[in-house]
Amino acid sequence: MEVLYFSGSGNSRCMAEFAAQALDVQAKAMEVWPKSTGILFLISLFGRGSGSKEANARVRTGVPVVLFGPVWGGLLIAPLRGVLSLCRKRRAPVVLVLSCGSPDEKRYSKWGYQKVLDAAQKEAGDWLLWATAVPVSLGLDPMPEEKELMHYRLEEKGLTEAQKHRIMECLERLGQIKNAAAGEP
Ligand SMILES: Cc1cc2nc3c(=O)[nH]c(=O)nc-3n(C[C@H](O)[C@H](O)[C@H](O)COP(=O)(O)O)c2cc1C
Repeated sequence: MEVLYFSGSGNSRCMAEFAAQALDVQAKAMEVWPKSTGILFLISLFGRGSGSKEANARVRTGVPVVLFGPVWGGLLIAPLRGVLSLCRKRRAPVVLVLSCGSPDEKRYSKWGYQKVLDAAQKEAGDWLLWATAVPVSLGLDPMPEEKELMHYRLEEKGLTEAQKHRIMECLERLGQIKNAAAGEP
């Protein structure tokens, strides 16, 4: 099992480290090129992927990958697209967990995560076992103002129980799929 993440401001890293701890593995950051958010955003806008040496080394045939990263501008960002495409090429099952500012109720809006999940499905095909999003506001009561959500830092605030639960659901699915493949009940 490999846990890979790309994280601009630390939220996806926080989620990946929680998952890695539960799986008893190390989460690996992807150092992507170009580093600039603006250029990465442009590449993402054109529907292109970007590579990283960590993904190149760790995505291997038959080894499940749990991939974490943010939603930017309602897009499947280039570093995530790059890994999903590699998983398809190398026949590695993958689970995607997005970190995002907009809440579940806005998943179908312009900046919502639903079309990112759909784009991920297209990119990885049947190799995408499961994909979900974890809004930074999930489980918060009261809900912060919308403008605060874009600057919310999980590393300062910690994951809520609802966020942990959503991440664990993904890991459980991965376990069920692995057991089914191995013929276990
Ligand atoms: C340039 C940029 C664009 C963003 N666009 C969106 C968006 O379209 N939809 C959304 O839900 N969140 C958006 N966000 C919020 C991030 O998805 C959210 O803060 C996420 O948790 C960041 O994860 P990271 O710290 O791992 O980079 C955006 C953040 C940035 C920096």
